[in-house]
Amino acid sequence: MGMQQHPNIAVATLLANSLKVRHTFPNMSQLENLMRPHMAKIATYHAVDPSEELARQAGIRPQDVIRLNANENPYGAIAEISESLTALDLHLYPDSQQRKFRAALSEYTGRPEENIIGGAGADEIIDLLMRLFVEQGQKVIDCEPTFGMYAFSANLAGAEIVSVPRNSSWDIDIPAMREAIDESTRIVFLASPNNPTGNLLTESDARALLDTGIAVCVDETYHEFASSTLSPLLDEYENLVILRSFSKWAGIAGLRVGYAIASVNVIQHLMDIKQPYNITIAGEAAVLAALKHKDVLLSRVSSLVEQRKRLELEIDELDGISYYPSRGNFLLCHFDRRTAAEAYVGLAEQGIFVRRFPQSILDNSLRISAGTPEQTDRVISALRTVV
Ligand SMILES: Cc1ncc(COP(=O)(O)O)c(C=O)c1O
Repeated sequence: MGMQQHPNIAVATLLANSLKVRHTFPNMSQLENLMRPHMAKIATYHAVDPSEELARQAGIRPQDVIRLNANENPYGAIAEISESLTALDLHLYPDSQQRKFRAALSEYTGRPEENIIGGAGADEIIDLLMRLFVEQGQKVIDCEPTFGMYAFSANLAGAEIVSVPRNSSWDIDIPAMREAIDESTRIVFLASPNNPTGNLLTESDARALLDTGIAVCVDETYHEFASSTLSPLLDEYENLVILRSFSKWAGIAGLRVGYAIASVNVIQHLMDIKQPYNITIAGEAAVLAALKHKDVLLSRVSSLVEQRKRLELEIDELDGISYYPSRGNFLLCHFDRRTAAEAYVGLAEQGIFVRRFPQSILDNSLRISAGTPEQTDRVISALRTVV
């Protein structure tokens, strides 16, 4: 294996690819002077690599890669979803008003259709919210450590991203938030459960922020795993946006479908500014099938939660590693005697890819997604050798 022949090269490649890259442009051309300066400075988002690429980095075969680095659903799409993708009218444009999509989601969420919008993943809706609310130079708040897309999209908008650190139990620091919010603050993004820490946003913290009057996006991408939601607050607050995704629980990250629930006002403005055909014909068909067969999908969600709990129990028995309580399909693990970089390499050498983070507060932590029972077996035995 490449790893044994060139250990230092492989380790360096693994580590270099485990965090974000910032491109350098040796030949600044005339053209770059035409670009918007804040755009020309954007660093590539650290997205997950395909399994073939991960295999190359670790010097192993693609079929030996265990992907626990993007909170994907290891069971894949159910057969009913795959079947829904055949015989579609692929030559036609999708419905820009998302009628069937919104009707099906209205039934699933219990909220009226006019309070729902679909996006190409929750990611697109984060971007749409920036476009709607934030002008260049205005403030966007997030609470690190959290999902990197909020800061990425804020940077694209030319916003000033203000990150108010979470406290030692990863909760929101409300007094510090109140201090950070001023007249140029437009929107705050809070994931619940938070990625990567796994904890929920409390209702009282959500209310405290909603009461300030700024737009509050509560990102419930992991809602089905947590069986918890702040959506009842939609009845009271016009400035609340609840964000959801089909990537994780429904196992269709590759089709890019998410949605938001909010006041009619916010949703209509988002509908007005979105790309007309943002949900593809395939994405719409898959969502309709997923919602029709949601019981099968939710039983897989339960299995993944079981596997996360099994991993917790196993870690309880190990020295040198602990975890933060999680309500998602992932676990943030802390290594007492290893850096995250060392543990990352140790796991990757055994074919297990997990998520590493750039923040110094997570220098000794890795996020491990819940897997199948067999994958959990492999993770447990690998952790024993790594701690
Ligand atoms: C908190 C959070 N929000 C949104 C997303 C992106 O979801 P989607 O695949 O629907 O764009 C992720 C994906 O990891 C996430 O962790």
